Amino acid sequence: MSRTVYVNGEYLPEEDAKISIFDRGFLMADAVYEVTSVLDGKLIDFEGHAVRLKRSLDELEMAEPCSKDELLAIHRKLVEDNGIVEGLVYLQVSRGSDGDRDFVFPSEDTPPSIVLFTQNKPGLADSPAAKKGAKIISIEDIRWGRRDIKTVQLLYPSMGKMMAKKAGADDAWLVEDGYVTEGTSNNAYFVKDGVIVTRPLSNDILHGITRKAVLRMAAEAQLKIEERLFTVEEAQCADEAFTTSASAFVMPVVEIDGVALGDGTPGPIATRLREIYLDESKKAAI
Ligand code: PDD
Repeated sequence: MSRTVYVNGEYLPEEDAKISIFDRGFLMADAVYEVTSVLDGKLIDFEGHAVRLKRSLDELEMAEPCSKDELLAIHRKLVEDNGIVEGLVYLQVSRGSDGDRDFVFPSEDTPPSIVLFTQNKPGLADSPAAKKGAKIISIEDIRWGRRDIKTVQLLYPSMGKMMAKKAGADDAWLVEDGYVTEGTSNNAYFVKDGVIVTRPLSNDILHGITRKAVLRMAAEAQLKIEERLFTVEEAQCADEAFTTSASAFVMPVVEIDGVALGDGTPGPIATRLREIYLDESKKAAI
């Protein structure tokens, strides 16, 4: 069934939605994005995603396509019109186009392009993948240096997922200078002796909206957190590990580079954090 999508001020059937071939998102990956999850037909942490979108736009000196209130209204209308109970809303803003290809940015009065669409994902919360846990491989992190900006330069993360798939795993963790940065599309953690370890925020990783919420909830649950660099070897010796993202919430990790963690099933802390996160987020959803 055709979805209703949003493109530059219009709600359209997906097959009628069009963007210029000169759009800089298409030609230069000159675009930023957000993925907001939907549970019980409501948006999870819309505010966090709106704030990060504004930050990404500011860092790239890109104009805001509309106000936060308008953005919320568009999200809600797409969720409603497409009957999404569990799923995602994808939002992309690009620097637009002035009708030709040029490395130089177009003039400041060129309007940005904005596209939103929904993805229907029944069973997102009660996910079989989360019950099984993810197998991870580690690969070199060769991405650019501003991973704190949520750009659509996703070729290497896509290649990372494909490398994992070919190796019979589910995802990849990226390693730079001997330390894990993050997953291809999630933040990375391990747990040892009850302490949750994750890399501190910097330009090296995306400042995950789920990361922020999960660390707050973990602290509220009296769990100890250490934000520091860590290696794959350290994570392999951990009691358990997990990742966080808006599209998979808290995902237990059961294997890293062929080494099973604990008894090779989702760990108790990851499982508990997933439950707390889903409960709390549903209560706060709008
Ligand atoms: N990815 N790190 C990277 C590289 C990511 O792409 C993502 C999100 C995260 C987690 O951020 P958040 O908790 O705000 O979703 C960390 C999204 C879900 C995606 O690309 O589909």
